[in-house]
Amino acid sequence: MVNGKTAILAIESSCDETAAAVVLNGREVRSNIISSQIEIHKQYGGVVPEIASRHHLNNVNPVVDQALEEAKVSMDEIDAIAVTYGPGLVGALLIGLATAKAYALATGKPLIGVHHIQGHVCANYIAHPQLEPPFMALVISGGHTNIVDVTDYRTYKVLGGTRDDAAGEAYDKVARVLGLGYPGGPLIDQLAKEGDPDRAQFKRVYLEKGSYDFSFSGIKTGVLNYMNNEKQAGREVNIADVAAGFQEAVLEVVVSKTLDAALERGEDKIVVAGGVAANSRLRQMLRQGCKRSGLQLFFPPPVLCTDNAAMIGCAAYYKYMAGRTDGLDLDAIPNLELEA
Ligand code: KG4
Ligand code: ZN
Repeated sequence: MVNGKTAILAIESSCDETAAAVVLNGREVRSNIISSQIEIHKQYGGVVPEIASRHHLNNVNPVVDQALEEAKVSMDEIDAIAVTYGPGLVGALLIGLATAKAYALATGKPLIGVHHIQGHVCANYIAHPQLEPPFMALVISGGHTNIVDVTDYRTYKVLGGTRDDAAGEAYDKVARVLGLGYPGGPLIDQLAKEGDPDRAQFKRVYLEKGSYDFSFSGIKTGVLNYMNNEKQAGREVNIADVAAGFQEAVLEVVVSKTLDAALERGEDKIVVAGGVAANSRLRQMLRQGCKRSGLQLFFPPPVLCTDNAAMIGCAAYYKYMAGRTDGLDLDAIPNLELEA
């Protein structure tokens, strides 16, 4: 306990960020250390799992030490150790998990396993102290695109998800086709501002009527075909137009389904989470849609959109308050279900 508040040390290593944080009573972030490997993976055009694991191994202990130091909290004052146990890259997850278990075993403190995507949703509790469930969540990242009805702090009902690529993955793949580099999301976000989406239009994929699922794999082929056709016709391609057209086609579907889900289930708030929540056009379109429909809208600030451990500490707090802790036999689950 720190000043009478529950103190959680959280560790996150599901992908290419090694992160540790100290969070009090779920929402007060005392430290949030993120060691990003993005510069290393950039040269390969994506995250290389084995390299990610090796860097997590080197970074995790210094990052935990730094989190405690910056928080000015000693290990004795920590009430529980939280860690992401899925979904993610199995080798990467295992480093965080083994570290958290070692601390839990050595100190006798309880271990709390956290679902990575539930963590992303909880980033909003940190950013918005008044926010409480129920609400409709849009989880949109490099690995996930889900519409989730969050009915209380620990109940997540998945209404729909992607049947192939995640939205962030589509951004990254299309950026590669356009020769922009990695990660593609922020680059397309910027470039699209200079383009005209009407000059390069792509199919909006809504799937069956009433479905909250997504499909984004076709749009990469659509962009490739567009580029080839333009080249064959001897026309110069304006990649800013292509970026804008691609983005509009993806986001129109995402925004429309999220608004429909909230209205249909009677939620009055929309909460956005995950790496793509940083996208400026997504924010603008949701703002307009929510205003039209009389819904409240919540986003985390960019630092809490990307992978971090503060969000894991927040999610763990609500599990801890419900008396849910895990044994030292907790295993990494690369494809962990959100409703688990
Ligand atoms: O949540 P995250 O950090 O990692 C996981 O997937 O869990 O999300 C990373 C994804 C990448 O695909 C990246 O391209 C995308 O988020 N992203 C963006 C933006 N910033 C990051 N996509 C669109 N616009 C952005 N501004
Ligand atoms: Zn993530």
